[in-house]
Amino acid sequence: MHERTLVILKPDCIQRGITGEILSRFEKKGLKFIAMKMIMISKEKAEYHYAEHKDKPFFNELVDFIISSPCVVLVLEAENAIRIARKLAGATKVEEAAPGTIRGDYVIHIASNVVHTSDSPESAEREINNFFSAEELIVYKRDLYSWIG
Ligand code: CMP
Repeated sequence: MHERTLVILKPDCIQRGITGEILSRFEKKGLKFIAMKMIMISKEKAEYHYAEHKDKPFFNELVDFIISSPCVVLVLEAENAIRIARKLAGATKVEEAAPGTIRGDYVIHIASNVVHTSDSPESAEREINNFFSAEELIVYKRDLYSWIG
């Protein structure tokens, strides 16, 4: 099985009406979509998702933002899916996000940065399990991608 990563299209993405454009970047790259849904994230799931930031001064702001409006959560699969998705997302620091990346092209403030992508295999597993049951992760073949499935 190839590596899996969790991507969240955050409330600002849906509010701005750029959901399709952002999904399209991951899709066109060739990452395999194995699960996707639009949800209102609960406070409990948001706090668990962002647990590593719980001592940061912006923790409450972070949680309040992600639960403020619907998000699209998805699981992508590929060899090196985690690093590939992070490259497509671009740097967290706005001024360092390269043009051509999602944040480089769409983000002007760190608190409203359109996407989240898992940063390690351990985070990916924890984050995927926070939002998806095993049955929701769909196993299927893509014939046109015979070399990666
Ligand atoms: P994300 O990839 O979702 O993971 C942690 C998030 O914290 C990050 O994206 C930013 O949206 C957010 N973040 C990081 N630094 C700050 C900050 N100084 N102020 C507000 N939000 C921040």
